[in-house]
Amino acid sequence: MFKVPEVAQNRLPDLLKLMPKAELHIHIEGSLEPELIFRLAKRNNVAIAFKSIEELRSAYAFTNLQTFLDIYYAGASVLIHEQDFYEMAWEYFLKASSDNVVHAEIFFDPQTHTSRGIPMKTIIEGLARACRDAAEKLQISSALILCFLRHLSEQEAFETLEQALPFKDHFIGVGLDSSELGHPPEKFAAVFAKCRDLGLHLVAHAGEEGPIEYIWSALKTLGVERIDHGVQSSKDPDLIKYLSSKRIPLTVCPLSNVKLKVFAHLSEHNIGQMLEKGLCVTINSDDPAYFGGYINQNFIETFEALKLDAHHAYSLAHNSFEASFASAVQKEEWYRELGQCFKRFTGKE
Ligand code: ADE
Ligand code: ZN
Repeated sequence: MFKVPEVAQNRLPDLLKLMPKAELHIHIEGSLEPELIFRLAKRNNVAIAFKSIEELRSAYAFTNLQTFLDIYYAGASVLIHEQDFYEMAWEYFLKASSDNVVHAEIFFDPQTHTSRGIPMKTIIEGLARACRDAAEKLQISSALILCFLRHLSEQEAFETLEQALPFKDHFIGVGLDSSELGHPPEKFAAVFAKCRDLGLHLVAHAGEEGPIEYIWSALKTLGVERIDHGVQSSKDPDLIKYLSSKRIPLTVCPLSNVKLKVFAHLSEHNIGQMLEKGLCVTINSDDPAYFGGYINQNFIETFEALKLDAHHAYSLAHNSFEASFASAVQKEEWYRELGQCFKRFTGKE
């Protein structure tokens, strides 16, 4: 067992930035910065409802998940060509690299684009090309996870899966996102069963602003391997016991939760308590262009607000690798690098 060294509070932000980490909850369309939205709108002749970058940014004042999603889907309408999907993902990888992300499992929402007539091939090949370049030029490994939009029907999810299957080599799993309330996981039981039969990994957003029952349903009916968000779990001791005994990860996104009013303030966030209870929680950025920061910003602000320390930092980075869908051999390598980083940081090596 690695012995985490003591680190002075004022040196913690540097450690948080420096430590290698995996990001497991990032919607690639949520990394579209206003500057890129405007650049692509101009290049592709797409009209947008905002006159300037500043006006668009000032519309990022959300009251709940739906008010965010309305703007997020509008922003994604500028993506037309393979190169657009490539550039969006490449810009994310550059930011991830400077945050010392060594592995990213990236959500994409094909229905947001296929519903506008963009072919599945254009979407997936653009994203996959950026993933290859990230491995080659930035030494970041990555994988794509196709998300079904839960406000649409299960029939539409089946049709989306059908369109994506010719590109199955380019994604490792499926997820469930978009408007949570009124769209319980069990609505997608049959399509998730099919994806399981196809050998795909399964994850789902649950308990972001929706009830605890949705987390149970994602686990028991869909059979997911990770819960995205899941912050409502802390209200149910039986669920906490279940998650911790099975080491089922929760991919938590603190800045997102505050921006979408799941918690009134970061100092009220429950990630510290869940970590103390032994849950496999991780820190992620969700939609960094909309919520005020990328993964390191999430770490730094959360640590500051909750007074977390180097032990928490080590656990969160370790959890991020443990919770990933990478091989056991790869995980061991990352654990070694994480330990070396902590030792180097305290000058004890
Ligand atoms: N799609 C993009 N971000 C999301 C979030 N935070 N919850 C649900 N669906 C999303
Ligand atoms: Zn999300």
